[in-house]
Amino acid sequence: DKYVGGNKDTIMNFRVEKQKEKVYDVIDVEDLGEKTNFCRCWRSKKWPFCDGSHNAFNKATGDNVASLIIEKKKS
Ligand code: FES
Repeated sequence: DKYVGGNKDTIMNFRVEKQKEKVYDVIDVEDLGEKTNFCRCWRSKKWPFCDGSHNAFNKATGDNVASLIIEKKKS
């Protein structure tokens, strides 16, 4: 089902909030923990957060995508 609804060469988002015209997320900086991983592969079932699904996607496609990690400075 990974590519249902689109051409794998042109569509990035196959499952996240498809009923919306555009997918966007607003998260207050104050609500972020010490470290937060955001999904950039569009395969996460915990969108907008990374759940590790990029590993299977990369294995199946040969791609090399992974998360955006936002973390507080270590002082
Ligand atoms: Fe999408 Fe990790 S699940 S980047």
